[in-house]
Amino acid sequence: MYFQKIRHPSNFRFADAHAEGALSIAGQTLATRIRDLGEDVFHVELQDTQRWPLDARLVRMHDDAFSGTSRHRLAFDAQGVLSLSNAQGECVLSGVGDASLGVCGSAWLVQWHRDADTRFYGQGDKVTGLEKTGKRTKFWNLDVWGDHPMHSVSEGVVDPRYAAIPYLLVRQGDNWIGILVDHPGSVFMDTGSNWFFTGRDDHNAPPAFWFGADEGVPAFYLIAGDSAADVTRRLQRLVGTTPLPPLWSLGHHQCRWGYRGPRDLEALDESFRAYEFPCDGLWLDIDYMDNYKVFTTSPQFFGDVSAEIGALEAKGRRVVPILDPGVKVEEGYAVAASGLAADIFCKNPEGKPYVGFVWPGRTWMPDFSLEAGRSWWAEHVKRFRESGFHGAWIDMNDPSVGAAEVDDMRFQNGQWPHWTYHNLYATGMAQATHEGFLKARPDERPFLVSRSAAAGSSRWAAVWTGDNFSNWHHLRMTLHCTLNLALSGIPFNGPDVPGFGGHADRELAIAWYKAGMLFPFLRNHSLIGTTQQEPWAFGADAMQVIRHFVRLRYKLLPYLYQLWIAQARDGSAVMRPLFHDFDNHDGLVLDYIDDQFLVGPAIMQAPLVHQGEQRREVALPGAADGHTRWMDAGDGSFLQAGRSIQVTSGAQATPLYLREGQILPMQTGERLSQENDLTDIELHLILGRGCTQAATLAYAADDGASFGYRRGERSQCRIRAWRDGDTLHVDVDEVHTGWKPLRLRVVGYDGAHTAVITTPVGRSTQALTPYRWTCSGGPLAAAMGDVVEV
Ligand code: NOJ
Repeated sequence: MYFQKIRHPSNFRFADAHAEGALSIAGQTLATRIRDLGEDVFHVELQDTQRWPLDARLVRMHDDAFSGTSRHRLAFDAQGVLSLSNAQGECVLSGVGDASLGVCGSAWLVQWHRDADTRFYGQGDKVTGLEKTGKRTKFWNLDVWGDHPMHSVSEGVVDPRYAAIPYLLVRQGDNWIGILVDHPGSVFMDTGSNWFFTGRDDHNAPPAFWFGADEGVPAFYLIAGDSAADVTRRLQRLVGTTPLPPLWSLGHHQCRWGYRGPRDLEALDESFRAYEFPCDGLWLDIDYMDNYKVFTTSPQFFGDVSAEIGALEAKGRRVVPILDPGVKVEEGYAVAASGLAADIFCKNPEGKPYVGFVWPGRTWMPDFSLEAGRSWWAEHVKRFRESGFHGAWIDMNDPSVGAAEVDDMRFQNGQWPHWTYHNLYATGMAQATHEGFLKARPDERPFLVSRSAAAGSSRWAAVWTGDNFSNWHHLRMTLHCTLNLALSGIPFNGPDVPGFGGHADRELAIAWYKAGMLFPFLRNHSLIGTTQQEPWAFGADAMQVIRHFVRLRYKLLPYLYQLWIAQARDGSAVMRPLFHDFDNHDGLVLDYIDDQFLVGPAIMQAPLVHQGEQRREVALPGAADGHTRWMDAGDGSFLQAGRSIQVTSGAQATPLYLREGQILPMQTGERLSQENDLTDIELHLILGRGCTQAATLAYAADDGASFGYRRGERSQCRIRAWRDGDTLHVDVDEVHTGWKPLRLRVVGYDGAHTAVITTPVGRSTQALTPYRWTCSGGPLAAAMGDVVEV
């Protein structure tokens, strides 16, 4: 398959009329169906069983997630042009005049107008920039290191990558439109790329963007909204929100290709403890297996698996091994034999089990498109969880089969061609693995991380963004990759820190941890044979800086946990670009800012991502009312938004800002280990002198592990705080103690010295005690109140 070539509208025949639910293309009719799903979410589908005989959409979106009526209208006109208009009847997105919807044999294409102000985002994990104007791309899951030349991977930009999420977030003026192509196969898109060697189009085609597919039922969703945040939330509900993860998954994780078994993990445990460096997850790469055979452990490195994993668990560590889908072709290997007996391997066109090449050599690939295939895998996973392992890292699921032609790998008992399930293979593996974990522990939230992904896969697994390199280019790319994944319905994701291939040095390791410390997923991972990159591998000074920011992550876990509760409830993104929460104002254009980001509504980071850099420009975005200020977490000063500032950042610091009018719940004191208590918290009120706005927070705490919260085993309250002179007023109400009592302490800044706290049991006035703590950089002057229990 060519990755750089896609179909062009010049080779398509376009509809020229539409009447009574049918398009007419050169005299042939195509049935059209537009469904208004409510809340300005639409679904468009064309039907022609001769042209598109196979509907291969095995992973369905949540069409029923929406209710009510839509303000927008999506319709074909009599000439067969599709347009979206708003409640006032104004066109928001318009199909191209005489070339809106076309076909070329089994291929189809939908084309829209764009203009100079149109902006594009999304497209999953592609590292082609935050903003996507001028890109020509395909969505086809790949093993990036296996399928692209290595030099392009390490120093350049390769496309496609591991995830196939054919989604575009489009901004047209004040309107935001999400377009998700509802197709499992190889979708293509063009957002105005250059098709001419000379750079000139002698036909003067109007500026357009288009998407389509080579075969398979033409279908897509369209979501209309007023902001990026609003569209992103509905996209997430459409593809399925990410279920509330276990708390330990939000901590720090340590991995390396080369850790082989309990002895290596015990050594890591000791180091993390000795350094008082919090770390939840210890990960095992392929060497823990017996000859790389999935669902085995190496007799050389393991003795009593359950006892060994149990001992690590008793020390507060979770063990997460890798699971590869390929099953070694070997006589006497029970997993292979049971797969053959159950007849669940993918077949080649000759009806034989398809053979690929992965770590164990020749492998058979489970067919996750079959329910029987998923159940078979889930049974093995169940035993794997029962033996003690806490989570799973599902890899090589692009699917990666070495040099073997993937087209020979068929699905549905050999009946369906490869394209039908290629992009969904990892999703099927995630589904089945998730099912296995739940079978073993029905009341435990599973935690899985997958390399490949598709629309909807975040229901079952988080994503790590695959094999990157320990260099500054990859550090910078990781920011926009993660941000676009979040906009594309994969909020729980993050890179290998401080890079997988190549050799990280001290400066890069510190910079990467500073930038990544609040990424949704934080795992240190590296390739066998590269420089060791455990946090202490770069010297004592570096370790202290890295440790400070990892401890800060743990201190912020109560805040981060609220973001995941919101994500599970309504699809709110966790890490997001500035334009997600703010519009362009005061000459501050946020459209292209790819080196600053928000973590929830209250935290903004502007890391230094260039070698040797100590100074940078930081945009301070603000709301239109002009009231936004940001507290510099380095010195506690409150900065007026709506401008850019120059910032110098020292060795111990990273530019970090807290939004005024927010309450940040944090764990108490400095976090020296991964032991967490979400019920014992400090409420950091970001209300500077003269602040007139009130801050609110709905806070919830639970055991962080089970589904008890769904049964009401959760403590929660609503907090409202405002400032009057140097007095902070804090009202706590709507208290529900379904789990443990909540212990709250008020923390104020900028000279606040008194707090008046009102809870359902009464009112108290407290004198706040001044203290200093280090968030990012120098000591911050704060003042803390006494514990109030609700
Ligand atoms: C490829 C994965 O992307 C990488 O993280 C892992 O270390 C190797 N496979 C070996 O399992």
